[in-house]
Amino acid sequence: MSTSSGHDSAATADDIRLTDPAVLADPFTAFNRLRETAPVARSSNVDGTLLWVATRHDDVRTVLDDPRRFANDPLSVPGNDTDKRAELLVGLGLPEDYVGYVADTVLDTDPPDHTRLRKLVSRAFTVRRVNGMRPRVERITADLLDALPDHAGDDGTVDLIEHFAYPLPITVICEMVGVDERDRPLWRRWSDDLVQLESAERMRDALVEMVDHIRGMIAQRRAEPGSDLIDALIAVREEDGDRLTEQELVTMVLTLVIAGHETTANLIGNGTAALLTHPDQLARLRGDPELAPRAVHELMRWCGPVQSTRIRWATEDTDLGGQHIAQGEPVMAMPVGANRDPRRFDDPDRLDITRTYPTRGEQHTGFGHGMHYCLGAALARQEGEVAFTRLFERYPDLTLAAAEDELEWIPRPGLRRLVRLPLRLG
Ligand code: HEM
Repeated sequence: MSTSSGHDSAATADDIRLTDPAVLADPFTAFNRLRETAPVARSSNVDGTLLWVATRHDDVRTVLDDPRRFANDPLSVPGNDTDKRAELLVGLGLPEDYVGYVADTVLDTDPPDHTRLRKLVSRAFTVRRVNGMRPRVERITADLLDALPDHAGDDGTVDLIEHFAYPLPITVICEMVGVDERDRPLWRRWSDDLVQLESAERMRDALVEMVDHIRGMIAQRRAEPGSDLIDALIAVREEDGDRLTEQELVTMVLTLVIAGHETTANLIGNGTAALLTHPDQLARLRGDPELAPRAVHELMRWCGPVQSTRIRWATEDTDLGGQHIAQGEPVMAMPVGANRDPRRFDDPDRLDITRTYPTRGEQHTGFGHGMHYCLGAALARQEGEVAFTRLFERYPDLTLAAAEDELEWIPRPGLRRLVRLPLRLG
């Protein structure tokens, strides 16, 4: 296998540094420029080796659509027998018998393993189950909105991130999975510890505690089955008798809760900020709540929380957007660039909640694309639709309590997340 050794100077020859403060502060300008100057650009991976970054809509879709050339599992690269993800987790101090629970998520697999896992989980995580959550999403939203005034600080402002954007999706996904109400604060804390990447120790402890907790939940549900998603995952069985192993079950629950909460919270946070700073668009939505599904899609495109997808590994020497990629090199697809690509979207920097797409294939890539397309997209969209509609209905005089340029974003590449969103309820 050839490696990135041919690009030893990569760290100094970066076309873009993903951790550059200017990129983190204004990713849209940075990736718009990059897409036009170096659509498949050099960057540095966490270990300093070369990482390719693709920003055009077509290239992003190619990477996400071709698991044979661009694999999610580094072990799919011929001749590679080191699993960097597992090494990272061991480096974090995660006990070895926990690594499998965390490293082998559905997002880390390629066909045929992916096909099998996705088929099994799709039997439990069904459209029907998602649609069935709607009344609960409405109720949880209404309760959180009613409680907002109680959270106003001395200056009369409320932080929407802390008191609405986060609690809504964590409550919904925990309820859907079947996490006991009294354990939900634990899940919020674990998830925060994992996402904030502040302390290796906290991340390791969170993973260990989550795995233990889910194993306990599964044992309890095996003894006393219920009708939640966790029960459906335990019970799911293919016609040929195939089912999720104990480890796969734990990994799937962990993945759903983490993937289902942080992302959706930031769709709600980013989307609310975008609507409040675009009063013409907000007025349209208020005037016609039927626009909510389209508005959510447009907010996903314009300020979606996931700016980069999981790294793919070139399984052979190949070309992408005219750039040679050597076997074994990592490639990252960047929805943040693709979603503002003028080759695909008219006037891409304009927020327009009435945009439509003739086919799903022409949509933004904020939920990914291809076989790893977000499993929870329908749930996230539903939560977004309810959240935006009800928030602006309930508080018609809602305003931002900070200037747009005072809003602070966490300095984390790949994730668009506000630190706070201070609002006046009016
Ligand atoms: C995959 C984004 C909500 C579960 C993905 C991917 C993206 C994404 C971009 C593909 C990553 C890649 O190909 O590398 C989002 C966003 C969300 C959201 C922006 C909210 C606004 C959810 C929810 C759930 C969920 C609510 C579950 C309850 C998953 C899972 C995968 C996935 C399991 C992996 C699918 C596979 O590998 O086949 N998501 N997601 N996501 N998402 Fe989401």
